[in-house]
Amino acid sequence: MKILVINGPNLNLLGKREPHIYGTKTLDDINKELKEFGEGKGIRLEFFQSNHEGEIIDKIQQADCNYSGIIINPGAYTHYSYAIRDAVASIGVPVVEVHLSNIFSREDFRHHSVISPVVKGQICGFGALGYKLAVFALIDILDGNDLGNEL
Ligand code: DQA
Repeated sequence: MKILVINGPNLNLLGKREPHIYGTKTLDDINKELKEFGEGKGIRLEFFQSNHEGEIIDKIQQADCNYSGIIINPGAYTHYSYAIRDAVASIGVPVVEVHLSNIFSREDFRHHSVISPVVKGQICGFGALGYKLAVFALIDILDGNDLGNEL
């Protein structure tokens, strides 16, 4: 099982970016920990970060046949990128949306995700743990326990 983890704009600054909101771990720290966590479960994780909408869209399109699932934190694009939403809706592999912070307890503009309607589910507010929870979710979905399909 191969999972692609996509992080969007400004998430390359984790560690020094508003640490009171996003924590003190760098993206490299988070990815290293996640890679080890995945390996312990026999899952290969690959990572991609970009500050550019088009690059994220290209990556999502390419991932369709090459990965079993995608974990995405689209950063601020979450709140307004119909193009990323359309890319997610266009592919067949399951996608889980992650946010480090609890977007619902922050500014109003963060309360709405245009991505959420087209993903399997959203995890937010648990910091870096959210990415691990997303791996658990994808394992379950890929095992066939897809709650979304039963509802
Ligand atoms: C974020 C939340 C977004 O509102 C923000 O623009 C980010 C990070 C999070 O992980 O909490 O860049 O996606």
